Amino acid sequence: NWTMANFVDIEIARLRKLVGPKGQVLGACSGGVDSTVAAKLMHQAIGDRFHAVLVDHGLMRLNEREQVQKDLTEDLKINLIAVDASKMFYAGLQGISDPEAKRKFIGGAFIDVFEKEAERLEKEAASDPERAGKIEWFLQGTLYPDVIESISFKGPSATIKSHHNVGALPKRMKEGRGLKLIEPLRELFKDEVRELGRQLGISDRLVGRHPFPGPGIALRILGEVTPERVEIVRQADHVFITMIREAGLYDKIGQALAALDLSRAVGVMGDLRTYRHIVLLRAVNTTDYMTASPYLFEPDFLARVSTRIVNEVPGVCRVAYDYTSKPPGTIEFE
Ligand code: XMP
Repeated sequence: NWTMANFVDIEIARLRKLVGPKGQVLGACSGGVDSTVAAKLMHQAIGDRFHAVLVDHGLMRLNEREQVQKDLTEDLKINLIAVDASKMFYAGLQGISDPEAKRKFIGGAFIDVFEKEAERLEKEAASDPERAGKIEWFLQGTLYPDVIESISFKGPSATIKSHHNVGALPKRMKEGRGLKLIEPLRELFKDEVRELGRQLGISDRLVGRHPFPGPGIALRILGEVTPERVEIVRQADHVFITMIREAGLYDKIGQALAALDLSRAVGVMGDLRTYRHIVLLRAVNTTDYMTASPYLFEPDFLARVSTRIVNEVPGVCRVAYDYTSKPPGTIEFE
């Protein structure tokens, strides 16, 4: 008889046994539901022998790094190290506008930062007789849909999208460092992971967060990533999500986001003609994230969001709403 409460006990026992009494585990934590639930499970199993690393690539949302640090360390007591790598990511993203090229660079850069951190942690551990030294395990919050989409989309001719947490990261980490992969959520869907999170005592606010992709805002700029453009998306996203929360709609929506179309449109502000970018808003109904339909807001809600974005976010003079389902659209724009 399978229940979530059973799952927690069985899984914690399995993780303890697998890792052993001295084993050290490393894991990437973004603050998203999946990595947070995986981290909490691992923390319950082995305590501070689990080392969570938050790589800030400069592509997170407004104040997100600070919030994630607080949630994970203060509320969940997880042993977390935050690394600010934004300069390196911005430098490497210069001149790249192709979506797959962006993903590839970000995935690779992510591993570089991660490996350096792993090395540093190992050196630190080696000088501590209480600790075993070697990090042998790598934790990932991979879900069942991640596994499916990565397999089915990687046909012989085409990869639709290379979700960076499923292909490159474990493969190179495994081959380069001999790390063994642990994926406790591999057979679960998102709604099951949320239930598991609640069982583990993670707050509703964290468990209910909309998903956010590993490559972050880079997938929401339809062209080259620059710090100024990231800032536009951040501000627009903040307005949109804040208004969604205030309207009591956040939990009714599967995922909501703002993106930046770098085309420019003519507008008028005061007496002056403007010629600026276009913000795209998207919100979808979905539970499995493999298919989705557009969320149908009251029209006046979107009009109010648009007014605020155009007034408050520099560099933008139009706002458009995306009514495309998945398929044929995807949830992200890239
Ligand atoms: P798409 O755009 O493929 O997105 O319909 C489906 C879900 O996956 C998220 N997503 C990603 N998550 N790394 C991630 O960790 C990625 O590279 C990535 N690409 C998309 C997306 O936000 C949505 O929830």
